[in-house]
Amino acid sequence: MNLFLTPKALVRRHLVAPVARLVGSPLPSPLAGRVVLVTGASSGIGEATAKAVAARGARVLCVARRQGELDRVVREIEACGGSAYGYACDLTDPAATDALVERVLREHESVDMLVNNAGRSIRRSLEFSYDRMHDFERTMAINFFGPVRLTLGLLPRMRERRFGHVVNIVTWGVQMKAPKFTAYIASKTALDTFSRIAGRETWFDDVTFTNLRLDLVRTDMITATDAYRRAPAKSPEQAAALVVRALEDRPVTISTVAGRVGEVLNLVAPRLSDAAMGLMAARMPDSPAARAGRGRT
Ligand SMILES: NC(=O)c1ccc[n+]([C@@H]2O[C@H](COP(=O)([O-])OP(=O)(O)OC[C@H]3O[C@@H](n4cnc5c(N)ncnc54)[C@H](OP(=O)(O)O)[C@@H]3O)[C@@H](O)[C@H]2O)c1
Repeated sequence: MNLFLTPKALVRRHLVAPVARLVGSPLPSPLAGRVVLVTGASSGIGEATAKAVAARGARVLCVARRQGELDRVVREIEACGGSAYGYACDLTDPAATDALVERVLREHESVDMLVNNAGRSIRRSLEFSYDRMHDFERTMAINFFGPVRLTLGLLPRMRERRFGHVVNIVTWGVQMKAPKFTAYIASKTALDTFSRIAGRETWFDDVTFTNLRLDLVRTDMITATDAYRRAPAKSPEQAAALVVRALEDRPVTISTVAGRVGEVLNLVAPRLSDAAMGLMAARMPDSPAARAGRGRT
């Protein structure tokens, strides 16, 4: 029995769904008929998530900056019989984000579920970051302030209707605390902590949060990093399957085994963990672009 789930999801997954399968009428996905807003839906994990969620009968609101890519994703979903709408928005722009909230609530009445997926990663050692305060500001802008603003905009309607779920795509780095990712992991950790606390305040309104602490996924985000070329990585579709699970079952967190081991090591043997992580980081130098101050990851 998975105690990370809500009681309702526990009953559905372990009692109602097996019985329904047994009598030959499997339950529809809890996403059927829901309105689900996915940020960063123009590529990678967000695009795969939008398609997977639409395939389960949800109406998907796809948000990102590139209108052309959003149009393509919406067309592809519609071609498969799904329902999708594209909204171009720069989530680091507070006024644009507020306007997005106002528009989607006007056009769809409510958003039942939100996937805070849009993000950016920066992989750069401190020694190349001393004059780069803006790396810390821009990761916070898209990985923390953007999703927090969007969540705050959509929460009142969710609480009023007494249903809602928010999934944050964070990283196993939140547990590992991997060197060279100070800006990125700190911003994702801020979102992870915000949501864990927010979820306690909204629990009795049946509005819940999941932090999905993903490991490596083969998307545009990691292409700039040579060290990741041969590393094992999930496909965007495998990552999207985890997002669907987070939306259907509403667990507190979804983590990898390695992430959990890293978290425990950080708790029980923090200095051993420092040494192990330091040695590992030394074997994977900064990319030439990161050293020259141009790197994305
Ligand atoms: N790939 C990995 O290994 C990995 C691992 C753990 C967690 N993650 C997280 O997974 C999420 C998705 O990343 P990905 O790997 O799928 O990379 P990706 O293909 O580069 O996707 C990033 C998405 O974010 C959108 N975005 C970026 N800045 C934005 C802004 N200012 N406003 C609105 N949308 C913005 C991009 O769309 P536009 O450019 O069209 O705006 C794009 O759709 C990120 O939060 C990332 O941190 C990734």
